[in-house]
Amino acid sequence: MKTFLTIVIVVALVCVGGLVYVYSGAYPVGADVPHSAPVRWLVHTVSDRSIAAHARSVQVPAAVLHPDSAMLVQGAGAYASMCSMCHLAPGFDQGPLHTGLYPHPPRFTHGTDVPPAEFFWETKHGVKDTGMPAWGRTHTDEELWSIVAFVEQMHTMSPEQYRAIVARASGDKEMQELPMPQVAPAGNQSADTTGAARHGGK
Ligand code: HEC
Repeated sequence: MKTFLTIVIVVALVCVGGLVYVYSGAYPVGADVPHSAPVRWLVHTVSDRSIAAHARSVQVPAAVLHPDSAMLVQGAGAYASMCSMCHLAPGFDQGPLHTGLYPHPPRFTHGTDVPPAEFFWETKHGVKDTGMPAWGRTHTDEELWSIVAFVEQMHTMSPEQYRAIVARASGDKEMQELPMPQVAPAGNQSADTTGAARHGGK
């Protein structure tokens, strides 16, 4: 009985201590300070287990494992406009989104060890509280599978090959039509009406 009471008191004290810590605001939530080891373990384990469990029912289309060139070109265009700013690409080794986000978006330049079914699931559904968007809310499965097929091949590409395949693709419509004013490239002060013209002057 005494042991049981001691356990109850210790558990209660730990819970109260935890709540006091949470409400004190002491935990550094800024994205420029890494999680403490226990929080990192908890977040990674919850995320890894959830993705593995949810991706079990995803069937990988045969075409993704042996893509034709039309599928690769489509995936290249989509990757360049929707993913490369965070996940980088051959010849594009850094950027403010890759550097500033926490967790850092993994680099896919040298390939990925994420199996295609899980890669597709994460692309479609995103990952809460990380900056990884749920692309399935705005894009079809077919578009997303073309990206999976492309990423499987991207590590074999030189920066020149990457630029060449992206140049053959059309960019992503949703990204090009983001409701943001178009800003002239740095040093090009005269082009400040380009965006207004493209968006019908609004
Ligand atoms: C705004 C930044 C951002 C964009 C844009 C973005 N991602 Fe991510 N992505 C992330 C972050 C951050 C993570 C890390 C999430 C985590 O650690 O759980 C991530 C993780 C992933 C993962 C899991 C990789 C792994 O090793 O577990 C996949 C797959 C992925 N992204 C695919 C994509 C694809 C495909 C696109 C484009 C269609 C894309 N992402 C666009 C930020 C982004």
